[in-house]
Amino acid sequence: MIWGRLAPPATMGGMTASPWFASPDEAASRLHAAGYLPDPASATTSYLAGALEKPLLVEGPAGVGKTELAKAVARACGADLVRLQCYEGLDEARALYEWNYRKQLLRIQAAGGSETWEQAHDDIFAEEFLLARPLLTAIRRDEPTVLLIDEIDKADVEVEGLLLEVLSDFQVTIPELGTVTATRRPFVVLTSNATRELSEAVKRRCLYLHLDYPDVEREREIVTAQVPELDRHIASQLVETVARVRELELKKAPSIAESVDWARTLVALEIGDLDERAIAETLGVILKHRSDHERAVKELRLRS
Ligand SMILES: Nc1ncnc2c1ncn2[C@@H]1O[C@H](COP(=O)(O)OP(=O)(O)OP(=O)(O)O)[C@@H](O)[C@H]1O
Ligand SMILES: [Mg+2]
Repeated sequence: MIWGRLAPPATMGGMTASPWFASPDEAASRLHAAGYLPDPASATTSYLAGALEKPLLVEGPAGVGKTELAKAVARACGADLVRLQCYEGLDEARALYEWNYRKQLLRIQAAGGSETWEQAHDDIFAEEFLLARPLLTAIRRDEPTVLLIDEIDKADVEVEGLLLEVLSDFQVTIPELGTVTATRRPFVVLTSNATRELSEAVKRRCLYLHLDYPDVEREREIVTAQVPELDRHIASQLVETVARVRELELKKAPSIAESVDWARTLVALEIGDLDERAIAETLGVILKHRSDHERAVKELRLRS
């Protein structure tokens, strides 16, 4: 996935300067310009991840901007994004590399048995027959790269073992070819919903950022930036209502993405005041479980 280049890396005396951030403040303003409104901790940790060349582990509930932070770093720094989406059953062949067996077979057939075992082996375990997957792709790139390892907690714990070499040494070992070391270290972001504990070995190699729901002030900024046509007064009502809903004991609290959807809904329905009735009619945009819906209707009415 290639992102637009907002801020191409500057050059200093012929040397290419780091494409990442020069300070926490600069990180905040460049992320802001790229459409991401960071809290101070996100800006500082993003700066540090670039300056220390350490992977950044971002943990938190669904929809608080974990994945978006990695995308925003790529946009803000004029880097390309390489994404490894994790899931149960993800293996080395999908994460690192695999050999193109069909092509290898064709090569062997084409040689027609005229080669010795050594010749055939050297022939087919060459670069031409290698299929690079996201981790290897990111390591080999010469251009500034953000490597997003998304939802690492969804992958089996063995995948974390695969990651260790990449996360600490920025290299990948391919037994038949040797070790590929990054010429230019990618900016690595791992995200997790914390559905399970990650291994200490992975955590030790990363900087850690916990993202949570924003306060009403920042959420209003995010919502109005994404839905500028939303009336200021309704924007305030919306974020305050969402904050109250999040305090209830729910199966799934509304995320920032759902607040933004709600804002779009209110604009589309031309709702001029987010009163009790308007809330009840549009609650399905932010709450997706029946029990949550019922609880919110009851509790919000009780309090109003
Ligand atoms: N700080 C922010 N600034 C601007 N937009 C944001 C911010 N945080 C979240 N968003 C918005 O919320 C949406 C959801 O964020 P994102 O997909 O990054 O969530 P997530 O934490 O990765 O969730 P999940 O765990 O479900 O993958 C984004 O598409 C973006 O529009
Ligand atoms: Mg995500």
